[in-house]
Parts: sequence; C-alpha cells; structure tokens
Amino acid sequence: MVGRPSSVAAVVVVVVLVAAMVSTLSSCCCVRAGGGERRRRQEAERHPVVLIPGSGGNQLEARLTEEYSPSSLACRVWPVMRGKGGWFRLWFAPSVVVAPLTNCFAERIKIYYDPAADDYRNAAGVETRVPDFGSTSTLRYLDPNLKLLTGYMNVLASTLEKKAGYEEGFDLFGAPYDFRYGLAGPGHPSRVGSAYLERLTKLVESACAANGGKPAILLAHSLGGLYALQMLARSSPPWRAAHVKRLVTLSTPWGGTVQEMLTFASGNTLGVPFVDASLIRDEQRSSESNLWLLPVPRVFGNTTLVVSRHHNRSYSATNMTQFLRDIGFPEGVEPYRARIRPLVELLPEPGVPVTCLVGTGVDTVESLVYGNDGFEAAPEKVVYGDGDGTVNLASLMDPIKAWPDSPAQAVEVVELPKVSHSGILKDKSALDQILRVLDAINLNATTSIHRSSLSV
Ligand SMILES: *[C@@H]1O[C@H](CO)[C@@H](O)[C@H](O)[C@H]1NC(C)=O
Ligand SMILES: *[C@@H]1O[C@H](CO)[C@@H](O)[C@H](O)[C@H]1NC(C)=O
Ligand SMILES: *[C@@H]1O[C@H](CO)[C@@H](O)[C@H](O)[C@H]1NC(C)=O
Ligand SMILES: *[C@@H]1O[C@H](CO)[C@@H](O)[C@H](O)[C@H]1NC(C)=O
Repeated sequence: MVGRPSSVAAVVVVVVLVAAMVSTLSSCCCVRAGGGERRRRQEAERHPVVLIPGSGGNQLEARLTEEYSPSSLACRVWPVMRGKGGWFRLWFAPSVVVAPLTNCFAERIKIYYDPAADDYRNAAGVETRVPDFGSTSTLRYLDPNLKLLTGYMNVLASTLEKKAGYEEGFDLFGAPYDFRYGLAGPGHPSRVGSAYLERLTKLVESACAANGGKPAILLAHSLGGLYALQMLARSSPPWRAAHVKRLVTLSTPWGGTVQEMLTFASGNTLGVPFVDASLIRDEQRSSESNLWLLPVPRVFGNTTLVVSRHHNRSYSATNMTQFLRDIGFPEGVEPYRARIRPLVELLPEPGVPVTCLVGTGVDTVESLVYGNDGFEAAPEKVVYGDGDGTVNLASLMDPIKAWPDSPAQAVEVVELPKVSHSGILKDKSALDQILRVLDAINLNATTSIHRSSLSV
C-alpha cells in the first residue's frame, strides 16, 4: 500500500471478519517445532531474505505522556487496556474506524514538521515505537500477540517458508519501520528515517553473519523499495558487495504516483463508510512519507496531472508546491521544497543488481479534474491509465530509464499482467515469479539481465 493508513484500514475492515475466522483456525494448528533448535544444515544453503514492507504493512505502538492533551474525554481514557509501560497498539487497531475514537487516533498518529529543527516529530505527549524489528511477525499479523488478523505479508512469508525452505529468525527476517516518516535530501536531518536505515544495515549484517557470510536478498514492497534504495545508495561499494546479493522490489513507486495527489486533495478512504474523510485527510497530509510519494518531475515531466476549474489552473509534477498551496495545505510546501524535492530529483543507483516485479494492466489514476468547487469536492473526472492500480506504469518502470548508462548497474524488470499493487504479495503468478527469482539466486543461476524488460 502506498502511504495511506486509511486506505489500508479500508482493506483491513473488509477482510477482518473473514480473516479472523480463517487465521484463528490456522494459527492454532501451526505450532512450531521449537526450543530454538535449528534443523542442521550442511551449510548455509540459502541467501538470507530481509522483507521490507510497504507503508501499510508496518505496525506502530504508542504511549501517552503527561504532555499529551486529549481533545475529548474519550481520548483521555481510551484505550482502557494498555500493556506494560503503557504501550498500546496505534496502527493498526480496528477501533480507529469507530467514530469518536477516529479523532483520538488521528491526533495521536499525526506528525508535525518543525521548521526550527528542520525535521518531523510526533504529536506532543505521544511516544511511538515499531514493535518486533527483525522478525516478520508484525508483517504477518495485524496483532502479533493474538495472531488473529492476517497481515498483508502473511502469504508471501509463508510461501517463502513452505516453498523455498526459508525459516523465520534464521534466514528470514523482517524490517518494519515507522511509515509516517521519510528521508530528506542532502543536508537535512531525518532523525527517524536515518535511524531506520542504520537498523536495517545492522539487520542485514547480522542476517549475513548468521548464514555463513552469504549476502542477503532484500525483498521490498512498495515504499519499502525506496527505503532499501536509499540504504544501499548511502552505503559503500565494499559493504554492498559483501552484504547484499540483490534488491528485489515489488510494486515500488520509484517516481511517486498520481493517486497520491488525490490523497492529498481529497483524503483517501477507498469508499469505506464510517470514516471521517476530512480527519483522515489531515492525518494523511501530515505524513512525510506521503510527500515522498507525490509524482516526481523526473518521471511525469510537464504532463498535466490535475486540473482545478475553480482555480483555473492545471498542475504537473513540476508545480507541486502551487498544488499544495491550492489544496489548502501550505504547511507542506516548505518540507516538500527543501527536503523531498532534492531527495527525489535523481534516482540513485543502488550498486547491487536489481529485479523489479511490477503489476501492469490495472486501471490506475492518471489525471484528475476538479470542478467549480475546487478541492473541497470530489473530482469531477478521473482518467485512468496503465499501472498496478496504485502506481503508474512510468513510475514502476523508472529504473530502466534512470540507470541507462551504467554497465555495472544490472536491472531486470518482470511484468506481471493484471497483478495489482498489493495482489503482488498473494497472487499465484506473482508468488511464482518471486520464488523463481530467489531460486535463481540460491542456485547461483542468475543471469544478470542488463537494461532489459521481460514479460511473463
Ligand atoms: C518543462 O517544460 C519546460 C519549458 O518547456 C522545460 O524547460 C523543462 O525542462 C520541462 N520540465 C520537465 C521536467 O520536463
Ligand atoms: C504547472 O506547470 C505546467 C507545466 O509543467 C504549466 O503548464 C502550468 O500552467 C503550471 N501550473 C501552475 C499552477 O503553475
Ligand atoms: C483562466 O486562465 C487563462 C490563462 O491561464 C486565462 O486566459 C483565462 O481568462 C482564465 N479564465 C478565467 C475564468 O479566469
Ligand atoms: C556464483 O556465480 C558467480 C558467477 O556468476 C561466481 O563468481 C560465484 O563464485 C558463484 N558463487 C558460488 C557460491 O558458487
């Protein structure tokens, strides 16, 4: 999922009831042969895999300090049940869709740009943490303690175990992050995002060390691919050669998405009832990673992406700051201009071979026309084009264009017809391709395909 907690909420709400029943059954039957005994291998057979989720696949816990000033009595007492040290689940908690509690959720999950520090921070009195770093459990279950609600990487992680012999904690790891934060261009601090890159680096190092020094495969979905790219581009060539075998990305929006403009303008609840779109919109606008996912000039050029008849203006990726002002979000202009624009100007080479798996042939928002009521009303017209339903094709394919002259940078793009942005984590055709890529690496039969695109 690209950068929109609420849209994930939407999906979640729909699947919750079914998933709850199914996974209750399956989780009670699936007791792991335990005691930390590792079944003995001749030697490390597989390159370890580190899963890096898209934004919606991450979980967040929060606790409230004395500085927190709740906007209502409900927010003062909710949630009634809190864990050790006062920690409770902030994302994802099903109660976010209950009307008065959506407010509490929104005021706690919002982050703020602090111009004095030139960085983002949490709401006052709200401390947050990402649970279970290193493990895939929070990627598999919406609540890893109860294991009741299936998370969106559950099928992929289970497939790696059942079909490719991977084993949680031995050669299979998860690298969740605080999806609200992002990174910034050179010279700008990103306390949370940079700390994540360091944690990811250490996790990759320990994954290699635990597997006979075999370099890891980074398997990243959506926004996770952008984080992986930045981690690699900021590391040294010898470090990369020693620690990373290949970056495999699934549905990564290298150059942003037009749909993100819709999210900023209107909020994106994906049509779920009960959720207050304006609350969700505020919360989505506050997220730095959502700015990171706006369409970039490098990919979208001067093409008109949005028209507002009310403003008598058209907006391309090159005048995003005017767009942010006109939708009534002037607070976004400075962080976008100073931090995000320089970050996305270039697509740096990761310096390790890359395989991009991309869904195609799914209707994807390509342009929007807002009428005489401007951005306060829903768009009058939405034009769809090619992509994975969330990310436009040009953005998915960007690495082929962005790294053209570097023989050292191998890029393989595998197109998966009719596979959607998150379907890539569970559709059989996609899982088969992921297994094929991993097998090829593990059997050392990979042929580096340079600047080519193969359709399957
Ligand atoms: C947009 O158009 C201007 C003027 O024609 C041109 O100078 C600029 O390079 C274009 N920008 C992009 C990103 O294509
Ligand atoms: C945005 O840029 C495009 C060219 O890229 C131009 O045609 C359009 O008028 C600009 N819109 C605004 C609001 O500046
Ligand atoms: C809309 O803008 C164009 C130039 O961008 C101008 O020619 C036209 O008169 C404007 N229309 C209105 C109604 O303001
Ligand atoms: C895998 O193949 C490459 C050449 O493609 C070779 O340099 C490398 O030593 C091989 N690795 C193993 C573990 O056999």
